[in-house]
Amino acid sequence: MSFSFNFDVQLTTKCQQDEENQPQDGNEYSEVEPVPGITITTQDETVKAAVEHFPPATPHSLLNDAVSETITIGTLPPLNFLNESVFELTAYERDDEEMILSQTTAQCSDLISGVYEGGLKVWECTYDLLELLERDGERFAEKIVLDLGCGAGLLGILALKRGASQVHFQDYNSTVIEHVTLPNTLLNCLEEEEEEEEEEESKGKKPGKRQNNDEVIIEEEEEESMKSTEKTKSELKNKQKNEEVEDGRPHAKRQALDSSQHPKLSGCRFFSGDWTSFLSLILKEDPSLKYDIIFTSETIYNKAYYSALHNTLHRLLAPGGVIYLATKTHYFGVGGGLHLFEQFVEEKGVFDMEKLWVVEHGLQRHVVAMHFKTKDRF
Ligand SMILES: C[S@@+](CC[C@H](N)C(=O)[O-])C[C@H]1O[C@@H](n2cnc3c(N)ncnc32)[C@H](O)[C@@H]1O
Repeated sequence: MSFSFNFDVQLTTKCQQDEENQPQDGNEYSEVEPVPGITITTQDETVKAAVEHFPPATPHSLLNDAVSETITIGTLPPLNFLNESVFELTAYERDDEEMILSQTTAQCSDLISGVYEGGLKVWECTYDLLELLERDGERFAEKIVLDLGCGAGLLGILALKRGASQVHFQDYNSTVIEHVTLPNTLLNCLEEEEEEEEEEESKGKKPGKRQNNDEVIIEEEEEESMKSTEKTKSELKNKQKNEEVEDGRPHAKRQALDSSQHPKLSGCRFFSGDWTSFLSLILKEDPSLKYDIIFTSETIYNKAYYSALHNTLHRLLAPGGVIYLATKTHYFGVGGGLHLFEQFVEEKGVFDMEKLWVVEHGLQRHVVAMHFKTKDRF
């Protein structure tokens, strides 16, 4: 199986440097070091209200100064995403109302249960699932897909690139959606749009190059407002933020994405919040909504969330649909894992689970398909 990164910034993060000298200061969190390189901090479960996030009307603006890398797995289309090391080093520059960037850095933790659920980085089972999809050749054309607990969103992005008609991304943290999932989706959509434009131009179908229309608009808008109000960049940013309405829905201007210019992107929706409130938000809008494919990678590490997760899968999977679950056998320190989840699913009696792949190197990992038991399918 070919598996390559075409860009890799070799950086040592502060946490890596400090790892050996990490002080155990006995604060309110309990820390464990379950797997080399992964630190999990547990805290009482809290609930986070669901919010929908919208791409800005000028999508290129989210990619200013973005440093990206590309993963290529076999015959799958290349997937672009923000370089994690650069993201970590520049995290202090970002708006982060949830304060998860500072907390994860301060605690050198990849997971703070109920606060930050790990979506800032790509977890290894995502790569397993991508490999399996390459091997088995799942078809996405015209499908409605949910990337549940998406983090970087690579699984949903693959579905989008492979022709899914709608892809919904959900992550617990709004910071993850705003600063990672959305930019990653844009990186892929905008690149494809530009390639398509170039192809059309080379065939002589289009006279002029649209070439980053958005960037031109941004420049003009910014120049204009800088001239007239002499506001600094950060003042402008704050102004935009203050214009957001109270429930967190972005300013109307940000919602007005031109779907004719960005057809792929207009098939995407982005949500933050815990699974229970995500479920009520999305069903309130459309009680009949069902997904043909649900991806969920590295989301069964905490037994306390099984009920909300199972309920969400049960309510949202289409009859005849499939859930792809990618997981480690066991999550040391948090206690969850495949066997506990299997027991839970069996007790509920709603889904069959079919093991598609066991990855033996390193910590044992699995890719599992879940379908409704026959009686529930139709
Ligand atoms: C370890 S991360 C995995 C991220 C990504 N799927 C990957 O494989 O790289 C777990 C993800 O599950 C989601 N998650 C965990 N518990 C959740 C909960 N109670 N409600 C909503 N989302 C949750 C978070 O969004 C988080 O990004």
